[in-house]
Amino acid sequence: MTEYQKKDLLYKGKAKEMFTTNDPDVIWVHYMDQVTAFNGKKKVQMSGKGQTNCKISSLIFQDLANHGITNHFIKQIDSNNMLVKRVKIIELETVVRNFASGSFEKKFACEHLMKFEKPVQEFWFKSDELNDPFINDSQAIALKVANEDQMNQMRAIALKVNDRLKEIFSEMNIDLVDFKVEFGIDSDNQLILADEISPDSCRLVDKTTRKSLDKDVFRKGLGELVPVYEEILKRLENVEEV
Ligand code: TMP
Ligand code: ASP
Repeated sequence: MTEYQKKDLLYKGKAKEMFTTNDPDVIWVHYMDQVTAFNGKKKVQMSGKGQTNCKISSLIFQDLANHGITNHFIKQIDSNNMLVKRVKIIELETVVRNFASGSFEKKFACEHLMKFEKPVQEFWFKSDELNDPFINDSQAIALKVANEDQMNQMRAIALKVNDRLKEIFSEMNIDLVDFKVEFGIDSDNQLILADEISPDSCRLVDKTTRKSLDKDVFRKGLGELVPVYEEILKRLENVEEV
């Protein structure tokens, strides 16, 4: 239980709802039993999905904080709910790729899961109406989505997140193919990691079977999604230092 009370709905996204609380600096995040893909065109209710992602995200955010990566996570309250620090989200999706997949593979017609010598970094503009277009630094700066210093900070933090996530997933016999993170500005004007980190926002491939263990299972209709997420949680809970 928590001393915080859930108040008004602030924002309803595709997988999470955010509520204000009795503390103006604290937001209540509810992980919904819903999964979407292709900008919401494919949408399904799935019992157990919210709680699995809430737990995975909580464990990862806590681990990143323990490794010096400041983020919005405060604590998990119950199965589907967590408290986070209120931030103003920067309207960019920051993507890091270690292997070719998804939109990169499609755009450049390269070999599936080609390994990159150095991580690839990309920014995408968060806009449902525009279907989240690719955006470069000078475009983002021109649009005042972020300033140059913030772009550099996001790039640097995303690489640190990549280093730690690669370590964690490697312990789980998983290759971290790519992932997306989001950042926000807190009440002290600090840029911090926010949103969620879960198999909804990462591509994960089993090192032995080469099978997808992430939302691609849903995007590509490869089978039941929740048991796959539960498998990720089980392996994550077995990583000693997480
Ligand atoms: P992409 O290959 O489709 O550009 O996706 C790159 C990474 O970003 C992948 O791990 C999935 C994640 N992602 C999201 O979390 N949300 C999105 O809306 C999209 C398009 C990708
Ligand atoms: N996040 C997007 C959606 O929910 C796209 C995706 O993840 O494939 O529709």
